[in-house]
Amino acid sequence: MTEILNVAVVGATGVVGEAVFEILAERKFPVGEIHALASERSVGKTVAFGNRQLCVQDTSSFDFSTVQIGFFSAGADVSAEYAPKATAAGCIVIDNTSRFRFEDEVPLIVPEVNGNKISDYRAKGIIANPNCSTIQMVVALKPIHDAVGITRINVATYQAVSGAGKNAMQELARHSAAMLSGKSTGIRGDEGYKQIAFNAVPHIDEFQDNRYTKEEMKMVWETKKIMDDESINVNPTAVRIPAFFGHSEAIHIETRDKISAAQVCKLMREAPGVELIDGTEAGQYPTARTDASGTNPVYVGRVREDISHPKGINLWVVSDNIRKGAALNSIQIAEILVKNYL
Ligand code: A2P
Repeated sequence: MTEILNVAVVGATGVVGEAVFEILAERKFPVGEIHALASERSVGKTVAFGNRQLCVQDTSSFDFSTVQIGFFSAGADVSAEYAPKATAAGCIVIDNTSRFRFEDEVPLIVPEVNGNKISDYRAKGIIANPNCSTIQMVVALKPIHDAVGITRINVATYQAVSGAGKNAMQELARHSAAMLSGKSTGIRGDEGYKQIAFNAVPHIDEFQDNRYTKEEMKMVWETKKIMDDESINVNPTAVRIPAFFGHSEAIHIETRDKISAAQVCKLMREAPGVELIDGTEAGQYPTARTDASGTNPVYVGRVREDISHPKGINLWVVSDNIRKGAALNSIQIAEILVKNYL
């Protein structure tokens, strides 16, 4: 077993990259050398790793043969260019972009759900980290699927802007400040999206031929792959809301066999990575800002039997999209790699 690993973080100046450093330090991952990589633009900047400051290096001139693990979160195009170079140099890539998720030979991993599939990394040297919205949904739903079989998932998401990166966070701050100063006219979202401040925008990633967005279709494709069940029907609507951290999801499932709300709560209490906050008094439910932001669990609440369907269950599922939805999930994958495979 390898004791100490050299690590590179690609996208080190981004919102996920920063969280990767924070969580590696927090969980005392056995890091030897650690490299902060970004674009040429960031050379000269520093990023924090515990109480150290790391100088940012240019990804394009980095020698990946000096590291054993690379955490990639600089977008799909950067992964397309540099992940193959990294794996050719013997570095295992844990990729947090959509670039490789649907390749048959690349495992798509949520440790609580299909951690046993990590061994498949050997085919290409790449492990894909799923989309943030998918991760928190499958962590909550896997125990129910195992118990009674989920046939259909209807889900509406309420997603924080950090999922779209630092620029989107700055845009929300800027536009909110402008609105509060009375400058409410003429504010448009960047890149053709509608204004996010004081709004809810049903558009994340590109529209597809079937009129769903790519974010929505990621939830469809990824759920089937992670649960290893092509028969699960998934019907998502993905919505961006003016929150900085934490995605929320209203999930409505239909099951093969009937399950009560009490039985679902029992499963949630025992489920790895899940915390149940479920009552009918004011405040007895999780929210992104007050519970999820800055923490690790997937929170579940508002568990109810669907009054419109004999085998329907409703849940409200909340998690920090940058932690469990991205950086933490990647590091959990790396921890299993270190423990079982390296
Ligand atoms: P940089 O700051 O140098 O542009 P976010 O998701 O928060 O927007 O962050 C995106 C991350 O991806 C940043 O660290 C950014 O670095 C990095 N990145 C963007 N383009 C490239 C590139 N061509 N090569 C390497 N890293 C890149």
